[in-house]
Amino acid sequence: MACRNPPSAAAVPRYTLVFFDSGAWIQLTMVVRILFIGDVVGKPGRRMVARTVPRLVAHRGIDLVIANAENAAGGSGITASCYEEMVGAGVHLFTMGDHVYRKRDIYQLFKETDRIVRPANYPDEAPGPVFATATTKSGATVGVFTVLGRLFMRPVDCPFRAIDRMLERYGDRAQLIVVDIHAEATSDKQLIGHYLDGRVAAALGTHTHVPTADAQLLPGGTAYMTDVGMTGPYNSIIGRRIDAVLHTAITFEPRYFEVATGDPRLCGAIVEADTSTGLAKRIEPIVVRERDLAVLPPPGQS
Ligand SMILES: [Fe+2]
Ligand SMILES: [Fe+2]
Repeated sequence: MACRNPPSAAAVPRYTLVFFDSGAWIQLTMVVRILFIGDVVGKPGRRMVARTVPRLVAHRGIDLVIANAENAAGGSGITASCYEEMVGAGVHLFTMGDHVYRKRDIYQLFKETDRIVRPANYPDEAPGPVFATATTKSGATVGVFTVLGRLFMRPVDCPFRAIDRMLERYGDRAQLIVVDIHAEATSDKQLIGHYLDGRVAAALGTHTHVPTADAQLLPGGTAYMTDVGMTGPYNSIIGRRIDAVLHTAITFEPRYFEVATGDPRLCGAIVEADTSTGLAKRIEPIVVRERDLAVLPPPGQS
C-alpha cells in the first residue's frame, strides 16, 4: 500500500525510516501498534477499559485503540454515556456486532460521531456507517469495519461479497485496515480470515467472548485470531451470572441474565502493522486481570 502523505518532521514516529531522495520524501516503514479489545461487557468491562487502556497505551506504546462495544451497556448495545466513558479512556474506534441496535442511543450516536461502525453485511437500509477511520499521532490512518458470520446466527448478507465491496469502496481511505470478524463458528471465522489474508492488516474475531489460542500471522501477512475474548467478568457464562443462565438451561424458565461481576479481565490483541505494506508484522494476545494492574502502574507512575 503506497504512502500518500509525506510526514512532517514533528510527525516522524518511532519506527519510521525517512530520507530525502530527488526532492521527495520516501517513507519506508512506519510501524503502528494497534490495541484491539474484544466485546466490552457491561460495567465490569468498561471499568477494565478505563483502568487498563491508559496503562497499556503508556507502557506498550500503543498508537491506536479499537474496541468492540456491542455489549457495553448492561450487556447489550451501547449508550452515549458508555461511549463517552470509553473515549475518555482512550478508545479511538468502535465496532458493533449483532447487538448494535439494542440501545436506542445508538441512532443519535451514529449522527454525532463517525467513530462507530455497524456490521457491513447488513442491508444498505440498516442505520449507521460501515467504515470508520482514525489518524495516529504519527500521522498513520487506520480504518476499521466489521462483518457478521452466517453459521448459527441470524441470516445476513454474504460476508465475502461484503468484504470485496468494502475494500473496493474504502480500501484507499486508510493505510491500515482492521476487520472485526463477528461470528459464532470458528470455521466461519477462519474462512473469513483467510479470505482477508494479504488484503488487510488484521482480521480479529469477536462475539464468542472466549479468547482462542491461535494468534498468528497468516501466510499473506494478515494478523489473525479466531476470538480475542471479551473484556468483562470471566466468572460467568460469557459475561452473564452463572446461576441465572444455569437455572434457565435446566428448567427452561426464562430469567433475566444479569451481567456478572467476578474476575474482570481486559482481553484483546496488540497488532504491529506496517503502513508501507498495509500488513502486520506481529500479533500478541493480551489478557489483563485485575491483579495484573498492580504491576502495570498508571501513566506517570513507575
Ligand atoms: Fe458480544
Ligand atoms: Fe455478538
